[in-house]
Amino acid sequence: MGEAAKLFAGFWPYGDQQIHGCLHKKVGIGRLHGLVSTTTFIFLVSFLLIATFLNWMQIPIIQGSPLTNMSLLPTRNTKKHYERVEVPLNCSKAALQGRKCPDNYPRVFEPEESSTETCPDYFRWIHHDLQQWKTTGITQDMIERGKPSAHFRIVIVGGNVYVEKYSKPFQTRDLFTKWGILQLLRLYPGKVPDLDLLFFSGDKTQIMKRDYHGPNATFPPPVFHYCGSEEALDIVFPDWTFWGWAEVKIMPWEDTLRAIKKGLKRLKWEEREPYAFWKGNPYVAEDRLDLMKCNLSDKYDWNVRLYHQNWSKATQEGFKGSKLEEQCHYRYKIYTEGATWSVSEKYIMACDSMTLMIKPEFHDFFSRSLVPMEHYWPIRRKDKCRGLKFAVEWGNSHSQRAQAIGKAGSKFIQELLTMRNVYDYMFHLLNEYSKLLKFKPTVPPKARRICVESLGCPHTDLKREFMEQSTVKSPSNKLPCELPPPFEPQVIQASLENKEKMAKQVETWETVYWNKLNDNKQ
Ligand SMILES: *[C@@H]1O[C@H](CO)[C@@H](O)[C@H](O)[C@H]1NC(C)=O
Ligand SMILES: *[C@@H]1O[C@H](CO)[C@@H](O)[C@H](O)[C@H]1NC(C)=O
Ligand SMILES: *[C@@H]1O[C@H](CO)[C@@H](O)[C@H](O)[C@H]1NC(C)=O
Ligand SMILES: *[C@@H]1O[C@H](CO)[C@@H](O)[C@H](O)[C@H]1NC(C)=O
Ligand SMILES: *[C@@H]1O[C@H](CO)[C@@H](O)[C@H](O)[C@H]1NC(C)=O
Repeated sequence: MGEAAKLFAGFWPYGDQQIHGCLHKKVGIGRLHGLVSTTTFIFLVSFLLIATFLNWMQIPIIQGSPLTNMSLLPTRNTKKHYERVEVPLNCSKAALQGRKCPDNYPRVFEPEESSTETCPDYFRWIHHDLQQWKTTGITQDMIERGKPSAHFRIVIVGGNVYVEKYSKPFQTRDLFTKWGILQLLRLYPGKVPDLDLLFFSGDKTQIMKRDYHGPNATFPPPVFHYCGSEEALDIVFPDWTFWGWAEVKIMPWEDTLRAIKKGLKRLKWEEREPYAFWKGNPYVAEDRLDLMKCNLSDKYDWNVRLYHQNWSKATQEGFKGSKLEEQCHYRYKIYTEGATWSVSEKYIMACDSMTLMIKPEFHDFFSRSLVPMEHYWPIRRKDKCRGLKFAVEWGNSHSQRAQAIGKAGSKFIQELLTMRNVYDYMFHLLNEYSKLLKFKPTVPPKARRICVESLGCPHTDLKREFMEQSTVKSPSNKLPCELPPPFEPQVIQASLENKEKMAKQVETWETVYWNKLNDNKQ
């Protein structure tokens, strides 16, 4: 490490300002902070002096302050709150009254707050993902042709949800996806429009652009899926893990995030291991197997610590040592795609450690708005061991900046990827989608109605526990956030170019670093 510091000393030709503009601002804020504390100090001292003086004069300024009687404060706010009826998942005989769906949940929604805020920027990708059908609209014929690509079809009519199943999906992905949609209807009852959509719950992207080119091409069918790519037209929807991944005991996102936040407080940056960590199943992708070559060996230390997550072994051992909140003890965490995208991204990025992102090919609904060098450090696929080693050395000798990237990435996940935003994203996506339908959705003959009771009550295990945890118990008290307009095409272009530019920049630094290292050896 001492040697690495020497290597970086002086030679860093790229200056602080080149990394990212916002880091510069941080310095400014730091200075401002100093200024504020001095002012505050002077103010406090003056205040105390005056208070002492007045007290000595027996003028009761402090005794009369409303702050001494806290009971005054809540009474001012009580007008805003009204009794919210909570309807949990209740599978008792008395609650069901012999019905599968007791329909005891409010069917309308009365927001108290009229003013709304604008949704985060990543919502703008909704327009982009639906762009394909803007001019043609979505016809019944397109839905028919999309069926072979889908595991199931969701139809919403009059606030009720119906499902037609086409094939057996993997694990409980479909169950928790349907569960999530039901929760959305509970959050905004009466607001989710009638619609008819196809869902694919596997890994591989389904609707490839290349299949819809040429003179005889048909219009592509719209298929919802957890991920997309530059080559695909899949409509990206939040994945099932936001409501829990029962097979591997990953709790619903709200609870997981809470646990991670608590866990990461345990170790400060300086106390974390100065290496890049990854734990997962390497056998799902070539690229992950390639990553395994970078692990610490008796021959070489690439600053990388990799661990094999054997899920079947973990299941047998009760998931000791597999808890996500216990994986925040490294300064750097590696993100690498699985068969396609990986649900691990949000867990990795929530850690406050700098994410080293091996160039992804796929995206989920929020990841296209992550900015290299602001939220993560980009790593190319080729020669990843060298890239990783360099990134760790850089971070260890520029710890302020590495921490800033780690913090910004976490902030994005912790503040913009709240469950409320996940629901609002679903709401707007479904709402915009329904506007494109050229037909009035009707319940297909083979579809069956689902509700929280019909999905939840048959289960008694962890699935049920996760469902109870993630139940939306009462309608929202405010409207969904406001959907921002589409990105201008040049903004998307600029974002892609920036990604390329940053990747090139890092590559250049890397080359300089390795050349210097080799020169030093000779
Ligand atoms: C605080 O307010 C309550 C009524 O809201 C009153 O009964 C009580 O005496 C007050 N306490 C003090 C310390 O002023
Ligand atoms: C379930 O519903 C029954 C009948 O309405 C009620 O008595 C019971 O308290 C409910 N249970 C829960 C956990 O809310
Ligand atoms: C398009 O359809 C015509 C008539 O069926 C056929 O002759 C032609 O080969 C097709 N072209 C392509 C690119 O498939
Ligand atoms: C990586 O190396 C560490 C330390 O030698 C070892 O404990 C771990 O099992 C290795 N990981 C893999 C995936 O082989
Ligand atoms: C995973 O663990 C199970 C049970 O301990 C074992 O049988 C299996 O061989 C392991 N798989 C791998 C790839 O190590």
